[in-house]
Amino acid sequence: MLKYKNNLLFIDDVSVFDTAVKVGTPFYLYGKKKLLENYKVLDGAFCKVNRIICYAVKANENPQILKILAEKGCGADIVSVGELKLALACGVNSQKIVFAGVGKKDDEIKEAIKSDILMFNVESIPELFRIDKIAKSLGKIAGISFRINPDIDAKTHPHITTGLSHNKFGLCFDEAFEGYLLAKELKNIKIVGLHLHIGSQITDKGSFELASKKVSGYIKKLSDAKIKLRYIDMGGGLGIRYKDEKIITPAEYAQAIMSNLPENHTIILEPGRFIIGAAGILVTKIIYIKKTSKKNFLIVDAGMNDLVRPEMYGAYHDIIPIALRKGEKYNWDIVGPICESSDIFAKDRPMPKVSEGDYLAILCAGAYGYSMSSNYNMRPRPAEVLVEGKKWKVIRKRENLSF
Ligand code: LLP
Repeated sequence: MLKYKNNLLFIDDVSVFDTAVKVGTPFYLYGKKKLLENYKVLDGAFCKVNRIICYAVKANENPQILKILAEKGCGADIVSVGELKLALACGVNSQKIVFAGVGKKDDEIKEAIKSDILMFNVESIPELFRIDKIAKSLGKIAGISFRINPDIDAKTHPHITTGLSHNKFGLCFDEAFEGYLLAKELKNIKIVGLHLHIGSQITDKGSFELASKKVSGYIKKLSDAKIKLRYIDMGGGLGIRYKDEKIITPAEYAQAIMSNLPENHTIILEPGRFIIGAAGILVTKIIYIKKTSKKNFLIVDAGMNDLVRPEMYGAYHDIIPIALRKGEKYNWDIVGPICESSDIFAKDRPMPKVSEGDYLAILCAGAYGYSMSSNYNMRPRPAEVLVEGKKWKVIRKRENLSF
């Protein structure tokens, strides 16, 4: 998606420099072409099976992004009534919406049942009974699957691993089995599937293989108990390359999952990061260059309120100048203006000499960037801009915090 032309960074046919001058910094810049390519390549990898791709809205909830995906027939994985309403407003088919989360509130359950979503990914037995009760009061039947916690170490950052037995998510196989037996007896519940999501930014193919193997044996056990499932929701988690990780290709991912699962089901996938992560950058400007006896700081106008991943997970993001710089490299600490020592995008990062006023691009910032941004230090959230071929447009204005 990114290339230098005449020493200036471009997304497709749009100069990042020109947009920065016009929009002001910091702002997120997304490439529509790359977004669609990511969707297509993942969907294509599963073309031999019945499937629904349910984009994980939490990765990036910009309405334009969602509309683009919905137009291609993409569904949505949601975790709140806000995401539900957004997905519906953006044209996502309600029968392609799955609802996860350990703490679904009554009004959220009610709204989702009224909207006729495909299924609730139920995370506890009390939640099952709550859904049944609410469905009964509405005179409706709610589709459910149980979220299984398969106790698999997805070998990712501890904050984003979700399938270990000490994590708050889902039910172990045996508890879920009890759940299925209970659900079978409930009049306002229809069992439609099974769900799991073992973590995010997964680069270990074996974790997906193990998950699908475990699921496969379990489906047989359920079938023996006369519990038939239509959907197997394998969650999200496919990792992307931030630095030099060896990542799993969509084809390998499909193979890891499908070689173990029976074929007579519809597969659901909930990718977030894979779809939008590499399709977005955060553009920021160097406000000051500060040299101390210990460090060379580049103080930029984006902060951890705009992109929290480096601060929160120690996540690595490549950072490159928008006007290509050559020559000797220096080690820079690239930091934001926020009053926290952890407001650091990169430590001792080698980069050629730059100047105050130069623009930098923080790469692979499309997923969990804007969606995790905040107003900390009373800072407005950044603008969001979409590139489409030779054109670009602001798809969310910079926040105005006047009061
Ligand atoms: N499905 C469920 C139930 C999830 O909880 C998530 C992400 C996904 C799907 C999408 O996962 P993905 O394909 O994007 O890996 N803020 C963290 C990531 C948190 C992921 C939360 N759940 C980060 O910035 O790395």
